Amino acid sequence: MWRNMTRAPALALLGSLLAAAATASSSGSQILPVVEAAAEKRRKGILAGTWVNELGSKMVLNPPNEAGQFSGSYLTAVSAAEKRIQASPLFGVQHDPKEQEQPTFGFAVKWTFSDSTAAFVGQRFVDASGKESLETMWLLREEAKSPEDDWKATRIGRNVFTRVK
Ligand code: BTN
Repeated sequence: MWRNMTRAPALALLGSLLAAAATASSSGSQILPVVEAAAEKRRKGILAGTWVNELGSKMVLNPPNEAGQFSGSYLTAVSAAEKRIQASPLFGVQHDPKEQEQPTFGFAVKWTFSDSTAAFVGQRFVDASGKESLETMWLLREEAKSPEDDWKATRIGRNVFTRVK
């Protein structure tokens, strides 16, 4: 049923369900605020939270400031460097979640355990069932020993993140 609905009726139905749940919840249940907060997050295109990609890498994005700048941390599950992996800081920008339900964003990761830097760009999507994903592409630059090695110093790829928190 959800799959065939346009967004407005789906949101209206969600609102009705929440209102009905509010009426039914005379016992002071803690479930409703959690459900409402999750629905609000989905509506507003908020990126802040904990995300995991198909490699098993995990990142935490902090809420953005007024200018859309945010920080976070990235724990990669894989590495091209033969070093012990450590969580690394990230810094990014995003479009206003109050205006864009599916905002584009970008962030850079300075790997603390290797000489490389990664840049991700992407967009947040939410499907008809409310499942959020971050569709991203990345460039990973390692330190070339000389300009002659420049041609092999940048990798490119794609990651899809889903929300875990
Ligand atoms: C390095 O190898 O020097 C640092 C780690 C790089 C991890 C890359 S970034 C793109 C891809 N997506 C991930 O989650 N991990 C790899």
